[in-house]
Amino acid sequence: MNKYPRLLSHGQNNKVIVLSETEVGKLYTEDTRSDIGSEAEKMKFANSVNDLVAKFHRLEYNQELNAEMLVMERIYPIDFRAYEVEMRELWISVFKDQLSKLHKAGFVHRDIKRPSNISGYAYDNILLTNEGLRLIDVGISALKTQVGETLFEKYLEIENAEVKEFEEYFLNR
Ligand SMILES: Nc1ncnc2c1ncn2[C@@H]1O[C@H](COP(=O)(O)OP(=O)(O)O)[C@@H](O)[C@H]1O
Ligand SMILES: [Mg+2]
Repeated sequence: MNKYPRLLSHGQNNKVIVLSETEVGKLYTEDTRSDIGSEAEKMKFANSVNDLVAKFHRLEYNQELNAEMLVMERIYPIDFRAYEVEMRELWISVFKDQLSKLHKAGFVHRDIKRPSNISGYAYDNILLTNEGLRLIDVGISALKTQVGETLFEKYLEIENAEVKEFEEYFLNR
């Protein structure tokens, strides 16, 4: 039997399960290296700036699965190829504007594009919905207050290059 009933997906590190029509839970078992507390804090910070990052709901302990769980808003992604380029241009411009507001507030996502040596879909942390693009997975995100000005600027440079690549991909498929 599947050890994780209602499994929705898993990324590089964590499994995500369906809790209800509106909520999912990201699981942190002892073998996941990422820190649930820090991820929750970074998410709450981004949520306080705008709606680009999925909304944090609460932390829970999942008895059956023996795992800590970050409960958040459930996003239903759609395929961007269902929409004409003009719509995608609108979405990408809103996305860039919201991301730049997060940057100005001192938050950098750092996982827009997965490194090519890691398997999986390159942009699986960006989800398109009928209302536009959203971001998930702040696992390796950084706050300027924590990493300092120099590192933050370096991360911004990389992020902006990744966004350019995403834009190119998003408008040309
Ligand atoms: N809020 C959400 N709504 C819908 N699906 C999600 C949500 N968060 C994560 N997922 C799905 O679970 C996968 C893994 O979650 P993610 O936070 O990216 O973990 P990882 O650190 O393992 O990459 C994502 O690629 C996505 O398919
Ligand atoms: Mg991910």
